[in-house]
Amino acid sequence: MSQHDAITIAVIDCDGGQRQKIALALRPYYRVFDFPDLETAFGTMRQRPSLVVVDEAVRSGQRRDLIRTLKEEPSLAGVPVALCKTPGRTAEYGITIETAPDATIEKPIRRKAMVATISAVLNGKVEAGWDALPKASRQTLRESLKAFGTFAGLVAGGEFLKFGSLDAICAPLIEAVGQSEHKHILDGLKGHDNITYVHSLRVATLLSLFGHGIGLKEESLVILSAAGMVHDLGKLEIPAEYRNRDDDLDDEHLAAMRGHVDSTIAYLKKHSDVPKGVVIIAGQHHERIDGSGYPKGLKGSEINDLARMGAIVDVFAGLTEGRGSRAALSSEKALARMTEEMAAGLDTRLVGLFRQIVLDNAL
Ligand SMILES: [Fe+2]
Ligand SMILES: [Fe+2]
Repeated sequence: MSQHDAITIAVIDCDGGQRQKIALALRPYYRVFDFPDLETAFGTMRQRPSLVVVDEAVRSGQRRDLIRTLKEEPSLAGVPVALCKTPGRTAEYGITIETAPDATIEKPIRRKAMVATISAVLNGKVEAGWDALPKASRQTLRESLKAFGTFAGLVAGGEFLKFGSLDAICAPLIEAVGQSEHKHILDGLKGHDNITYVHSLRVATLLSLFGHGIGLKEESLVILSAAGMVHDLGKLEIPAEYRNRDDDLDDEHLAAMRGHVDSTIAYLKKHSDVPKGVVIIAGQHHERIDGSGYPKGLKGSEINDLARMGAIVDVFAGLTEGRGSRAALSSEKALARMTEEMAAGLDTRLVGLFRQIVLDNAL
C-alpha cells in the first residue's frame, strides 16, 4: 500500500478552552482527537496517534509521573509526547512530571511555534528510520529533503536553481527504482510532516517507476523525476493552511492555489537551467484531456505525453495522501476514481498502463 495516511494527534487537556484552541490550530494539518483527561483518553482512543499533546495540569486518578504514565500505556507504545507547560512554573498538580517529554510547548500557546515543535518531533522520528534503508533509497530520501529545505528560500528570493543539483536526487532515485527499492522510499516518507516535500518525492518516485515500467530511456526518466521534484514549487509561496487542500476553498483561495502552476513556471523559466521537458511537465500537470484543466485549458494533443503521465501520477499521489481531516484513499479506490469519474480528463491508455504498474508492485 503506498497510501500515505494523515498524521493523527491526540490532545489531552482538562482546560476545555485551551483544548479547543489547540485542536482548532492543529486541524488544518492533522487529524485531531481531543480528550479531557487521561482516563477518557486511554478508554476511548480508537487508534494509535502519531503524537500526544498533553497539558501539565491534566487530571489523572493517580499521583504519578505524567510522561511515564503515557509512555507505559500499551496503546501508546513508542508514541512521542509533547508537554504544554508554563515556563518556570513548577508542577503543583495532582500529578508529577519527572520523565522528560519528547518536546515542550510553551504556554500561552502560539500556533506557529506549536506546529513547528510537533513537526520537528514527527520528522526526527521518521528521518532516524532512514538509517536502516538500502543505500540508494537512503540517499534519495536524504538528498531530496536537503534540496527541499533550500527550495522555499530559492523561490522566495528568486535565486538560481541548478539542474545539476536535481541530479543529485534523480540519480539515486532512478537507481533505487531500477533495483525495485521504490517501496523503501514511499514507506520512508510515511509520517513525515513536510507535506510538499512528501508529495513531490512521491510524485518523482512514482513517475520514475511509471517511466521505467513502460520502458522509457534514462534521459526521459531524469526529466520525469526532476519534474516530480519541482512540479509544485510555486506552492511553497502559498500559506501552509490551505496549500495542499483542493476542497472547501473559497474563490480567492482557490485562485491562489491554482496560481501555483504559473508561479512555478515563471520561477523555473527565469531562475533555473532545468530542461524544457521539466518545465512542460510542471506547466501541464493540471491540464486535462477534455479541456477542463488549468491554467490554460489545453485539450487532447495540445498536452505533452510526459505531462499526461505527470497528471496521472499527480492525481494518484494526491488521492492517496491524507491531510488534515481528509482521509487518504487506498490505491484501488484512487484508481477506480481515475478510471471512472476522472476518465475524460486523463489519458486512458496511460492510466491503464499506470494501473498495471501499481497492481504489479502492490502499491
Ligand atoms: Fe500541482
Ligand atoms: Fe502536485
